[in-house]
Parts: sequence; C-alpha cells; structure tokens
Amino acid sequence: MSDFTPPADSGIHPAELSELSAMVRSGSSLIVIETHDEPQALKLFVELRRQLHRPLFQWTATRGLSWIEREQVLSSEFEDPGKALAHIVQRRDQGIYLLKDFHPYLKDPVIIRRLREMTRIDQGLHARTVVLISPQLTLPPELEKVARRFVLKTPGREALRAMIREEAVRRAGLRAPMPDALCEQTVERLVNNLDGLTLKDARRLARNAIQDDGVLDEHGLVEVMRGKFELLNPDGVLGFELETARFSQVAGMPNLKRWLELRASVFNAAEPPPGLDPPKGMLLLGVQGCGKSLAARAAAGLFGVPLLHLDFGALFNRYHGESERNLRESLAAAELMAPCVLWIDEIEKGLSSSDSDGGTSRRMLGTLLTWMAERKSRVFLAATANDITSLPPELVRKGRFDEIFFVDLPDEATRAEVMGIHLSRRGQKAELFPVEALAQATEGFSGAELEHLVVSALYVAHAEGQRLTVDHLLGEIDATRPLSVVMAEPIDQLRQWASTRSVPA
Ligand SMILES: Nc1ncnc2c1ncn2[C@@H]1O[C@H](COP(=O)(O)OP(=O)(O)O)[C@@H](O)[C@H]1O
Ligand SMILES: [Mg+2]
Repeated sequence: MSDFTPPADSGIHPAELSELSAMVRSGSSLIVIETHDEPQALKLFVELRRQLHRPLFQWTATRGLSWIEREQVLSSEFEDPGKALAHIVQRRDQGIYLLKDFHPYLKDPVIIRRLREMTRIDQGLHARTVVLISPQLTLPPELEKVARRFVLKTPGREALRAMIREEAVRRAGLRAPMPDALCEQTVERLVNNLDGLTLKDARRLARNAIQDDGVLDEHGLVEVMRGKFELLNPDGVLGFELETARFSQVAGMPNLKRWLELRASVFNAAEPPPGLDPPKGMLLLGVQGCGKSLAARAAAGLFGVPLLHLDFGALFNRYHGESERNLRESLAAAELMAPCVLWIDEIEKGLSSSDSDGGTSRRMLGTLLTWMAERKSRVFLAATANDITSLPPELVRKGRFDEIFFVDLPDEATRAEVMGIHLSRRGQKAELFPVEALAQATEGFSGAELEHLVVSALYVAHAEGQRLTVDHLLGEIDATRPLSVVMAEPIDQLRQWASTRSVPA
C-alpha cells in the first residue's frame, strides 16, 4: 500500500516506508525504533512527512525541541525532557515527534506517566505520534502495551556491494570502477560479514577494513568480524574468541574429532551438498575436568570460524527478569555472526528443571528449543553439561542435537597424551619423561587433575631450584586424591545413564 515511492537513491526500502506509514496512520501514538543508525531512521521520517503532510519535530537533550528541516528551536527550556513532553501534549498540530536517545529518562516515573497519558488523550483529530529512537531501549511495563516497535530493514546484499565498491574506490583514490585488489571473492566474503548490519555501521567497518591502496586482506576481514560482534553484543552477554583452542591440544576423544572432521566441509559450504543438512550441534556431557569445555572450543578451531560464548549462568543471574530477552537477542546475534560456533558451557546451570524461579528457566528452555528447531543459519551449537540429573529431558531427546557425546575419564593412553601435552605447553621436553609410567600411576585422574599435577610439580621444582624431574611428578601423584575416588558413585551413575543415550567421545 505504497502511495509514494521514495527516491531511488535514498537508500529507503519502499516496503519499509509503507509499513511505517501504515503504522503512523493507524493512530499508533507511541512508536519505538531501536537502531544504531539514527540518520537512516530520520531519513525515513522526512520521507514520510512528505507523504502525510504532518509537521515533524525532533528532541535531543542538547537542543531541546526543534523543527526538522528548519533548524529552528522552539524554546531552549524544552531541553528538559519533562517540559518537552508537557509542551508536546499541549500542541494540537498532529505532529510527529522524534525523541532521540530518550531512553535514560524512561526510569523516571513522571516521564513514564506523561508518555502514557499522551497515548491516551485526544486520539481524534489532533492525534500526535511520539517516536523514541535509541540504540537500545527497554520500555517499562506501563508503556510496553501501548507502544509499537518498528524495525528498520537492513540493507540487502546489493546495497552492501555498492557501498563496498564506493568505499574501495574512495580509499584508493581511483576513478576506476573497482580496484583490482578487491577481487569478487573478497567482496562476497565482506558482504557476508557485513550482512545484518545497518548501512551506516557496515560502511564504518568496511572503511576501517579496506586499506589505502584499496586492498582488503584476511586481517581486515577478521577486524570486520570483531567490529560486527561488538555492535551486535552491546550488553556483553556473549563472548567472542577468534584464535580459539585447537584439537592438537586435546588428548583422546577420537570419535568426536573424526565426527567433527567429517562435518567441517559441509558446515563451511555456503550451500550444503544435496541430501546433507549442515551440522547443527552437539552436546558433550561427562565427568568434570575431562576436557568438555576445551573440546567445545576446539570445534570452532577445527571449523575455522569464530567462537561465541554464551554464559548461561550469567544470563540467568545477572539479567534477572530479562534473561529471556537477552537469550533471544544473543541467539539472534549469533545468527548474524554465522558461520560460527555458539558455545554454551554447563548448559544445565541455566536450565535446571526446578520450578523455583517463577518459570524463567522453563521459558528459557522453550526459547532455546524453538531456536534450535527453527534456525536456518550456520550456527553450530556446542553445549556441555556436567550434571545430567538437572538436565531437562526435552533437551536430550533424540533429534535435538546431531549427537550426544560422553566424555569419560581418560584411559591410560589418553593420560599419557595429556601429560605430554601439558609438559610441552610448559616448556618441558615431554620425550624426556616416562609418560607411559606416569599414566599407569594416575588411574582415575581427570585431564584437569593431570594438568594440575604438572603445574604443582613445576612449583616444587622451582622452589628447590631444580629442573623438573619424574620424582617431582610422582610426589604430586602420591599427594593427590582424584575426584573420581571421592565421586565414584555419581560417576558410575553418569556412565550408566550415558551408556544408552550417548556415544563415547
Ligand atoms: N583431554 C584433555 N586433553 C588435554 N587437556 C585436558 C583434557 N581434559 C582436560 N584437560 C585440561 O584440563 C582443563 C580443564 O578441562 P575442561 O575442558 O574445563 O573440562 P570440563 O569442561 O570437562 O570440566 C583444560 O583446559 C585442559 O587444560
Ligand atoms: Mg567445563
């Protein structure tokens, strides 16, 4: 239902404009736009004003209320947000009022009340529209019901390509249509990386990535990913690792490694080969300290994609009341970062099946399950769990994850490998140590305990002013009571549970 078509060079989507127009004309008196691209939002309203012939104002904390396109301030006292709202209520001009960065004031009960009253009175002839434009905006419950959210469309791939070309030419100072340095393939990768951002943000990142001679290299692309991540994750719910763990640092788990290796090329293909779905995710469960977290991170290294860490425990505790929204936003951000590995460590901590939290963890589980079932993008979910007794049964049902792996205590050969890895990592010549004999002496030790052993022995050797010897290591072995001895019973139960529901890593 578009009566007017926006000019072709405006960067405005006709569908977007008509959607906004319909929202305003239907009498929505409070509209919320969450965006980092304020100028783009403004452009839309300027265009809309031409269609609807309604006066357009903006408010900022620095200038107060002013006419848009007239550079004329109404009165300087309207810098005060409360006074500005009081004034808007009095005006009978069917105005559209864009309140920029108004979100800090939404904590003030008087402001909330004014906004609420404003949406109720004189809906007839003098209906006005108040639009809140902020990078991020949480509405108080009083306003949540009356407000409508409008989502700016992100530029399509064609617009991104054009922008990259523009930037490359500008950067290289050339008049040529496209610097040679920027090959088709690199542009496509950059377009992939910028997809999902606003044009303004995409341009800023592209500008930083392209060098003076118009060259865009691997480093530039990596920086784009990092920049994009920072934009998509303003609350810091997700963590981001680029150079993450490698499987060469993980002892044992031959099945898991092979399983991942078989899937890497399919995961990385833009179009999966016929008949094959891209891998969606795995759950690693098992004994604490045996390398689940390490292996989950190494999956990102093996696929050669960034690792996003979603801290479920923190999501649950830190953002109380907003855990679900933050989960939804984090999942959406992960999709925009695709291809990537999304790592949820100790997933049971945020999803325990208890009902003691007013249903939050239930709803979070629902949100996660829905996302897992519906997601289309290449986000590989790598989840780990230590405690199966608090894992909700829905999560481990067949078909949720592509595979559930059980990570057991390391066997003798794996223990030798773990010792070798950690001796080398700490500057020791592993081949000088009888790792097989040490492995024999450490029955029941977890990988973490073996690592700890090496570290403690190194401290002792250092204190004695000596080089590390096998005797230092044997001394530490004698002094350690591995967790598996203390926890023999729960570990046995874990193994039994796992034997029918998972495959050995
Ligand atoms: N199989 C393994 N190979 C190499 N190192 C290991 C292994 N298992 C555990 N470790 C060491 O112990 C540390 C803790 O292991 P982690 O991955 O956190 O165990 P989990 O998540 O199963 O509790 C790892 O960072 C690593 O240094
Ligand atoms: Mg762990």
